[in-house]
Amino acid sequence: MKNIYKNSQQNIKKAKRLLKKNKVIAVPTETVYGLAGNAYSSSSIKKIYKLKKRPKINPLIIHYYDIKSAKRDVYINKDFLKLYKKFSPGPITFILKKKKKSKVSYLANANLKTIAIRFPRNKIIRSLLKILEFPLAIPSANISSALSPVSSQDVLDEFGNKIKFILDDGQTNIGLESTVISLYDKIQIIRPGLINLKQIKQVLKKQISSLKKTNRIVSPGILKKHYSPGIPIELNSKKKDYNAAFIVLGKKYKKDKDVFNLSKNNNLNEAARKLYKTLRKIKNLGYKKINVVKIPNIKIGIAINDRLKKAAN
Ligand code: TXA
Ligand code: MG
Repeated sequence: MKNIYKNSQQNIKKAKRLLKKNKVIAVPTETVYGLAGNAYSSSSIKKIYKLKKRPKINPLIIHYYDIKSAKRDVYINKDFLKLYKKFSPGPITFILKKKKKSKVSYLANANLKTIAIRFPRNKIIRSLLKILEFPLAIPSANISSALSPVSSQDVLDEFGNKIKFILDDGQTNIGLESTVISLYDKIQIIRPGLINLKQIKQVLKKQISSLKKTNRIVSPGILKKHYSPGIPIELNSKKKDYNAAFIVLGKKYKKDKDVFNLSKNNNLNEAARKLYKTLRKIKNLGYKKINVVKIPNIKIGIAINDRLKKAAN
């Protein structure tokens, strides 16, 4: 299909050429699809903010192939090394102090003292990062506050012809954005994801807090309204309202055109994978309201509930 490019040596090279010219392209990761641009180039960062209609105070995550390249831009510490060893490459983002001599555009990290860095696991984005001489700023490939894309078709849905080059890798594996953890000043999870607080505590062997409402300021981008399909959502529903779509989990729900089951087996990873796709489908079908059953607040269910709460705001 138009603008969609399959995984091949040739297309990875084409992506490299475009990025070197400071163009913005769409790429797969294991979490969600993103818009990628040269993190060292202010002109490419400006394009990303413009395409996403993103407030300039909301910093981007910088994606690297390995520690060696990340060390050019941030000061690493012991906690980082422990978590990196256990979870990277993978769906976790670390906030660390930016080096003075870093070449990351100040526009990419909203002129903060810190940068968020991530080492994605997806093979295609990794093979691209490996051959680039600069890291990539990659926010999720959606208009600010809208639903994140989990397939290249979703990216087309969001941007139409404005994104001319989308590297395709089918449906993403995880379906929710990476866990974001601050390792600067105070250790704190500022966005829940597949890798959860419990696992992180086990690795660091210390107490850490999840984000409190009062110190939201550490992440300017944690906007209240986010991940939104643009229709009212009611959470913890026991049944559906008239004419609403009903998002459910488990075996007990009968098949019905208005019922959208995230996982018949109550598998929360499957539910996470299907969440954005289901919300997008419901929106495209023209429903005016969504009811969602209670989702267990454990493991990746914590991240599902975080996104649903913000989508419902
Ligand atoms: O899974 C992911 O992380 C995806 C894929 C594409 O890698 N990316 C992603 O990026 O979700 P984005 O831009 O949609 O979300 C980045 C989040 C925002 O909430 C932003 O505020 C926060 O990370 N963030 C980035 N840099 C930060 C910093 N220096 N300090 C605090 N928060 C930061
Ligand atoms: Mg996003």
